[in-house]
Amino acid sequence: MSTLQKVMQTVVRYVPDRVIQYVGGVDPAIEQHYVGEPLPRVDGQVKVTGEATFAAEHKVDGLACARLVCSTIAKGRIAAIDTSEAQRAPGVIGVVTHENNPRMARPPLLEVQHLDRGLAGSDLPVMQDAEVHWDGEPVAVVVAETLEQAEHAASLVRVRYDAERPQASFDELKAQAEVPPDVLGQDSEVKTGDAEKALSEAAVSVDNVYRTPRQSHNAIEPHATIAAWDDDGALTVFESTQFVSGYQHVLATMFDLAPERVRVICPFAGGAFGGKWAIWNHTPLCAAAAKLVGRPVKLVLSREDVFRVVGGRTLSEQRVAVGANEDGRFIALIHTGTTATTTHARYPEQFSFTPRHLWPADNMAISQRVVNLDTVANTWMRAPGEWMATFALESAIDELAHELKIDPIELRRINEPEKDPTTGADFSSRNLVEAYARGAERFGWSQRNPRPRSQRDGKWLIGQGVATAYYPALRFPGAARVRVSSDGSALVQVAANEMGMGTATAQIQHAADRLGFPIDKVSFEYGDSTLPSGQFSAGASSQTASVAAAVEAAVEKLHKKLVKLTHDEDELTRADDRSATYASILERAGRDALEAEDSSGIAIEILKYSMASYGAQFCELRVHEDTGEVQVTRWLGSFDCGRIINPRTAASQFRGGIVMGIGAALTEETVFDERRGRIMNPSLAEYHVPVHLDVPHIDVIYTDIPDQHSPLGARGVGEIPMTGSAAAIANAVFNATGKRIRDLPITLDKLL
Ligand code: MOS
Repeated sequence: MSTLQKVMQTVVRYVPDRVIQYVGGVDPAIEQHYVGEPLPRVDGQVKVTGEATFAAEHKVDGLACARLVCSTIAKGRIAAIDTSEAQRAPGVIGVVTHENNPRMARPPLLEVQHLDRGLAGSDLPVMQDAEVHWDGEPVAVVVAETLEQAEHAASLVRVRYDAERPQASFDELKAQAEVPPDVLGQDSEVKTGDAEKALSEAAVSVDNVYRTPRQSHNAIEPHATIAAWDDDGALTVFESTQFVSGYQHVLATMFDLAPERVRVICPFAGGAFGGKWAIWNHTPLCAAAAKLVGRPVKLVLSREDVFRVVGGRTLSEQRVAVGANEDGRFIALIHTGTTATTTHARYPEQFSFTPRHLWPADNMAISQRVVNLDTVANTWMRAPGEWMATFALESAIDELAHELKIDPIELRRINEPEKDPTTGADFSSRNLVEAYARGAERFGWSQRNPRPRSQRDGKWLIGQGVATAYYPALRFPGAARVRVSSDGSALVQVAANEMGMGTATAQIQHAADRLGFPIDKVSFEYGDSTLPSGQFSAGASSQTASVAAAVEAAVEKLHKKLVKLTHDEDELTRADDRSATYASILERAGRDALEAEDSSGIAIEILKYSMASYGAQFCELRVHEDTGEVQVTRWLGSFDCGRIINPRTAASQFRGGIVMGIGAALTEETVFDERRGRIMNPSLAEYHVPVHLDVPHIDVIYTDIPDQHSPLGARGVGEIPMTGSAAAIANAVFNATGKRIRDLPITLDKLL
């Protein structure tokens, strides 16, 4: 039985009574006014005027401030912790250590089938004993009247450790890497034919190792929590998160509370990128501190704390070998490799998923291995798996194109599959060839000289590169509530999340069209775990379609309730402006409002089809002959993500992902001391994210072809723009210089 069939069997048992069939986008019976329009963000004004309230800005009476004290060893135990001086410091209210911390249950890791239970970055007990598991693990929380007092007192906490030598060297341990039992519920190894044999017999082949470094989360807004307990022992948390209901469930588990006794509120998050999907230590510790001191407590991580307490992207070492016939057809594809994780995260990072679904070969060997190190838990970071996989795979294909003397876009066209290369499933919608063709036309690809070092401007060597973007389409089930009022307004309520991408805007566009209401009559309430939820999170590029499916279900149910009230179904569909019609029905029925709540079903379509977004990344750059400096000078992203709900907010996500991709390819690297297991560059002065001068104008186009199997015809747009970006840059660097860099980031020392 295939993995797909196994998953289907498990899921079928959970299928609710109703599975939505998508006929492609908005119901044809409903006029489409807003979906597809470049509407400005509904919350744009409150954001630019500073009125939008972020986690640390909520006003809570009697608020105390907390600071963390973090371990400076990577393994061992606390021999003694002396807080007496800190306790006597001005303004100090209390100090939490493992000796007085309230008991908390271990947090859960992700279970693929139970995303609604939420997830933690690590499943270690949080400050419950003297053991130390990573450099940066919180060992104390100091609570004081002001932040400055807490910070000062934190510097007075004295910790003595019994240190052990940590297992922190990937290079030393990678030979002992093991195949994990599964990767996010999928088999860790996929094999067809005899890939090594086919490779050795191929007319032309490449076989190389690619390395990607650790990266750390650096959203503009650092992680922050305000926790307050009420007199009945219920917990309210203001948090910067991508997953209000997930955090609610994890906190309920840890503090042994019924979920409805925990409320998590997050109207805005200042960026998250996966770093605020799992819950990290600071959140339960803030709640524990609030419990201990009997006051609401605010805990904002410093930039350095984010590096130490919150995980980032793990490193990878990947072998990619591709063998082809003389005509360019792939006959062998090997994509294997190793990543690092920890025993307390068990997250191998799914780089082996991309090669399963992108390019076909009769003989394939795909697998991944993992080593456990004593570090902060690695975690989700924009396009986890796919970012590192597309660097290796799409670099290798460029190398093969060079060997074959075939244009790299033509080589991909020759190998475009009819069906999913490993599952054999039909594609729900795949227009990659078109995305390449349109991109090539607009970028002027035909003018590129394939010969390396053939273009220069004085000391600057100029090159162009291209690579494929790929990210799976996912959809998770959950509930939505819709209420219409006799004043002709509608309110949609979902425990959805906003981290900067425009959640409320896209959902109001959809709800207005779905209801047939003018857009200014529709409001959207989200970011609060008391609202209808399920498995909705701003994660895995899944939220827009997931929430839309639930809203569709709720509106259908509301519609049925209205039919019962009016006994005249035609009345509901006749009018241009249903807002007035609904108001009149409610008025005649003597009702102020009518509401309906319903859930979307399990996403059977993502199990039945090979469902993903695609794209072609085009990069032009120049490399200075003497200094090795790389400047990206021109970029075009040509995407195929189904229907685009809002061209303005989508383009912003595409550009943001490409900016992050430029940083990941050229500058970002978490420098890790393998002897001590300590991150050595925990600041934006030493961990370089792109600034304005690093980023050229980014041109973005898209096919806008609706996916018949996705709500609204839309697949996600949040993560795909980062994929393929590093390979496009590495391929352009090769075209400019003739140097093939297989080790990110592409810093000048590697080019000299
Ligand atoms: Mo994403 S890495 O699921 O925010």
